[in-house]
Amino acid sequence: MDPLVVLDSVNKHYGELHVLKDISITVGKGEVVVIIGPSGSGKSTLCRAINRLETIDDGTITIGGTPLPTEGAGLAKLRADVGMVFQSFNLFAHKTILENVTLGPIKVRGKSKAEADKRAMELLDRVGVANQAAKLPAQLSGGQQQRVAIARALAMDPQLILFDEPTSALDPEMINEVLDTMVQLAKEGMTMIVVTHEMGFARKAADRVVFMADGQIVEDRKPEEFFTNPQSDRAKDFLSKILTH
Ligand SMILES: Nc1ncnc2c1ncn2[C@@H]1O[C@H](COP(=O)(O)OP(=O)(O)OP(=O)(O)O)[C@@H](O)[C@H]1O
Ligand SMILES: [Mg+2]
Repeated sequence: MDPLVVLDSVNKHYGELHVLKDISITVGKGEVVVIIGPSGSGKSTLCRAINRLETIDDGTITIGGTPLPTEGAGLAKLRADVGMVFQSFNLFAHKTILENVTLGPIKVRGKSKAEADKRAMELLDRVGVANQAAKLPAQLSGGQQQRVAIARALAMDPQLILFDEPTSALDPEMINEVLDTMVQLAKEGMTMIVVTHEMGFARKAADRVVFMADGQIVEDRKPEEFFTNPQSDRAKDFLSKILTH
């Protein structure tokens, strides 16, 4: 495995609360890692630490062998290289779908408008919303907006995309259209770290499932092994709760 993201003994506190406890994990290039675990276990904090939206107290995080920059041009480059898709789509409300996708490539990557437009239209086509390019985000369904958010992340040619519960704000009938897009990306070899409770996605697309509880990585195994034979009581208990819903 060619490592892309390496966390080594990462700790983080919010005041008295120890939210990340000695986290060590390596994600290889092209790997898809699903992170699951109870609410408050530190999944979002972990994602946010990887693109440095949060600082860590100690330990190291490297991406492509380079330690996370703390500020300046290095940090901007890191943010450009690490895509992020959140639960809420975070599109710019007053910009068209096309402009939402071209903004980063023009401002950060220095692409010409023509070049950025062409690539954006290809990506919007790929996620199935090219015909919405001239609209404003509010004129699209939640599922369509989330696919635009994925196209926007891809437009930066990221080394890695972090997804934090990308389908949990969507109506049920829209969840699959977003998951299908993500499965496709996974097949194409994108490196992905995905916080989700969508077990179908984990089974279909994940190379590994990482189970977190109380700020610790409790299990890190192949999806089939994890779902059919969880080792820890925490994971057994968690799975019994989510799989009966
Ligand atoms: N900015 C913050 N300040 C203080 N405490 C925080 C902050 N952000 C998160 N926490 C706390 O850190 C812990 C981990 O939060 P985090 O959001 O990472 O959990 P999570 O696993 O993503 O949960 P969920 O499944 O509900 O999204 C929680 O106890 C949370 O209350
Ligand atoms: Mg979270």
